[in-house]
Amino acid sequence: SERTFIMVKPDGVQRGLVGEVLRRFEQRGYKLVALKMIHPPRALLESHYEEHKGKKFYDPLLAYIGSGPVVAMVWEGLNVITVGRKMLGATDPAKSDPGTLRGDYGIVTGRNIVHGSDSESAAKREINLWFRPDEVSNWVHTAERWIYE
Ligand code: GTP
Ligand code: MG
Repeated sequence: SERTFIMVKPDGVQRGLVGEVLRRFEQRGYKLVALKMIHPPRALLESHYEEHKGKKFYDPLLAYIGSGPVVAMVWEGLNVITVGRKMLGATDPAKSDPGTLRGDYGIVTGRNIVHGSDSESAAKREINLWFRPDEVSNWVHTAERWIYE
């Protein structure tokens, strides 16, 4: 089983979509192992988005994600990185399938509601960046025997 970093961006928080994001991952059967609201400081965002430094959308992106509190979370389960990205939909909500978070609630790339790690190495890096080890709970999800065979 693996873990991924999912974050409700400031637009998702303002639009009242925190519960919707949580609900979808929770009801899918994934295990929530960390959760917090944080107004991310600039340095944290520079590190989080280092792969995009120098791109034309980098400054607006940091302004957007730094514009208010976000809800950061870690979800655990089988293939949660890949499946989580499918649940988010394409980066551009116009290209996201209906039924995905961005496809149901977004219109433009610059306000696409939610972030999800795109690989195992990114997930590891992002979880360590946003959470201290003691903020991640290793609780026993007793429903797992009804979710996995
Ligand atoms: P995340 O899960 O948020 O990382 O999205 P992604 O992996 O689908 O996209 P990517 O990592 O390439 O880009 C990170 C974020 O930058 C996107 O989610 C958008 O919010 C923003 N972004 C990417 N490309 C563009 C763009 O061309 N224009 C604008 N305005 N924003 C962009
Ligand atoms: Mg990305």
